[in-house]
Amino acid sequence: MKNFIDISDCSSKELREILEEAKKRKSLRAGLNKSAPDEDKPFEGKSMAMIFEKPSTRTRMSFDIAVKQLGGSSIILNPDGIHYGKGEETLKDTAKVLSEYVDIVMLRTSSHENLISFGKHLSIPIINGLSDKSHPCQIMSDIFTFEESNGDISGKTISWIGDGNNNMSNSLIESAAKLNIVLKIGCPKKYSPNKNIISWAKKNKVNLKITSDPYEAVKNSDCIMTDKWVSMNDKVNKKTKKKILKPYQVNKKLMSNAKPSAIFMHCLPVGRGEEVTDEVIDGDQSVVWRQALNRVHAQKSIIKWCLD
Ligand code: CP
Ligand code: NVA
Repeated sequence: MKNFIDISDCSSKELREILEEAKKRKSLRAGLNKSAPDEDKPFEGKSMAMIFEKPSTRTRMSFDIAVKQLGGSSIILNPDGIHYGKGEETLKDTAKVLSEYVDIVMLRTSSHENLISFGKHLSIPIINGLSDKSHPCQIMSDIFTFEESNGDISGKTISWIGDGNNNMSNSLIESAAKLNIVLKIGCPKKYSPNKNIISWAKKNKVNLKITSDPYEAVKNSDCIMTDKWVSMNDKVNKKTKKKILKPYQVNKKLMSNAKPSAIFMHCLPVGRGEEVTDEVIDGDQSVVWRQALNRVHAQKSIIKWCLD
């Protein structure tokens, strides 16, 4: 039994295994209905509990479909509707009870520490469905999506533009170390990656360049990624942050400075007209809808890996 909390917890070999399994499973189910189970139903008779402390469309839907395709079932628990560390029951006791009922837990939380301590009290695996610190499931889906169209990501250049200090950029930096990605971050100094992740990146020899010039950041790039300028629960002055990030909008001019074969990625939800223009997100280089679909395939593989 293994938890999937951060990309940095996994070895390069494990991440590669997860990606290859996702690739294999996706191709094997070509032609099947969206929620029809895979032939081998590896999760038959098993179930997953999902707890969302924050809103979610893709993570909620894609995990539910993933579990169905693996032949199992899932239950979504609203933290306000259960006893969940609010005085009536400690998180520890909730974790112990869930361990009796289901086989795996997925948690989306505002507090990464909660995720770690909840995981410690469970006797079943836990998957990080986004925390304030990281979003590893999304990054696995993004790498899978990149490789489907542009081949092995090793040695390729990915550009992260905009807010350089959020859960997505942290997980991307970790994946760059594990999968030999050349990572260029284009962000204002104020929203640069935080000290902890920078020192982790140095220690782990990430091929990382941070620049405040977005054009420099996309030069020779194979993929341009961005994210909402203000993340969920980001306690900032939104107006000020958006003003500072304005020069980092991904638009046609910025895209044309990357390689002609470059793709555009966004984890969604998107702030249209803010971090990206309609023209780019709806354009030929955008793979955002396939990226959302691939959450299903990457997460099936993550669930299997946790339980194997
Ligand atoms: N990308 C992502 O995690 O989307 P949701 O917030 O809709 O789950
Ligand atoms: N950084 C974003 C990702 C949303 C999927 C957030 O945390 O809101």
